[in-house]
Amino acid sequence: MTGANRGIGFEVARVLASRGCAVWLGARDTARGAAAAGRLSAQGLDVTALDLDVADENSVRRAAARVTAAGCRLDILVNNAGVALGSGTSPSVLDMEQIRAMFEINLFGCIRTTQAFLPLLRHSAAGRVVMVSSDMGSQGHQTDPGFPYYDLNPMGYAASKAAMNAVAIAFAKELRGSPIKVNVANPGFTATDLNEHRGVRTVEQGAEPIVALAMLPDDGPTGSFLGPDGPEPW
Ligand SMILES: NC(=O)c1ccc[n+]([C@@H]2O[C@H](COP(=O)([O-])OP(=O)(O)OC[C@H]3O[C@@H](n4cnc5c(N)ncnc54)[C@H](OP(=O)(O)O)[C@@H]3O)[C@@H](O)[C@H]2O)c1
Repeated sequence: MTGANRGIGFEVARVLASRGCAVWLGARDTARGAAAAGRLSAQGLDVTALDLDVADENSVRRAAARVTAAGCRLDILVNNAGVALGSGTSPSVLDMEQIRAMFEINLFGCIRTTQAFLPLLRHSAAGRVVMVSSDMGSQGHQTDPGFPYYDLNPMGYAASKAAMNAVAIAFAKELRGSPIKVNVANPGFTATDLNEHRGVRTVEQGAEPIVALAMLPDDGPTGSFLGPDGPEPW
C-alpha cells in the first residue's frame, strides 16, 4: 500500500489486514507511518510500516528491497498515494509547479512503484494491482454535463489521474496472460484531508471499490475501472 498512513489508504490497509492480509503500510514519513501501523497493530492486525515516498526513486527501490529481503512475495499492490493541489484554480492560471508535483506523485509515483514491485508480484499465484484514480480522471464524466461534479475543473489533478488510467491499461495489457490483474478504482467523493473533508462518502465507503479490486477472484477482470456504483466510463 502506498500513502496508507491516513485517509482512504489507511482504511484500505485496515480492511485488508482484517481480512487476513499481512500489510506493508507505506508512508513517506517514517513517524507518521509508524504511528498509523501502530494503531492497526494494536487492534491485533498484521501491519508493518514501510518507508515509501513514491516521488523518490531511491525510497521506492529501498522499500521494494526491504520487502524482498523479508523473503515475502507480494499478492496485492495498491497505488493509493495521491495529492490534489490548487483545487478550485482555473486551468489558465494553475501553477506549473503544482501541476508537476501532481504528475510526479499521482502518475510517475504509481509507475515507478509498480515497476519496482512487479518482480515481487510475479511470485504470487494471484497478483493484484490497484491504481487509485478518480472520477476526475474519467474523460467520460468530464465531458458529461450531467456528471454531478462537472463544474469542478481541477486540470492538473484530472490530467494526472486520466494519465494514471492509461498507465493501468498499459500494465494490464502487458500482464494479460499472467496471474496479475491491474485495475483502476474510483473511491468517489470521500471526506478526507484531500478535500478538507467536503467529500460525501465515508472512508469506509471510499475503500470499498479498492478492496474489491484488491481481492478479485481469478475470474475477475483486468484493465477495468470500478467506482462506487459499478464500472466507470474511461
Ligand atoms: N478523497 C476523495 O474524494 C478522493 C476521490 C477520488 C480519488 N481519491 C484518491 O484516493 C487516494 C487517497 O486520497 P485521500 O482522499 O485518502 O487523501 P489524503 O487523506 O490526503 O491521503 C493521501 C495520502 O497520500 C500520501 N502521499 C502523498 N504524497 C505522497 C508521496 N510522495 N509518497 C507517498 N505517500 C504520499 C499522504 O501522505 P502524508 O500523510 O505524508 O501527506 C497520505 O497518506 C488519492 O490517490 C486520491 O487522489 C480521493
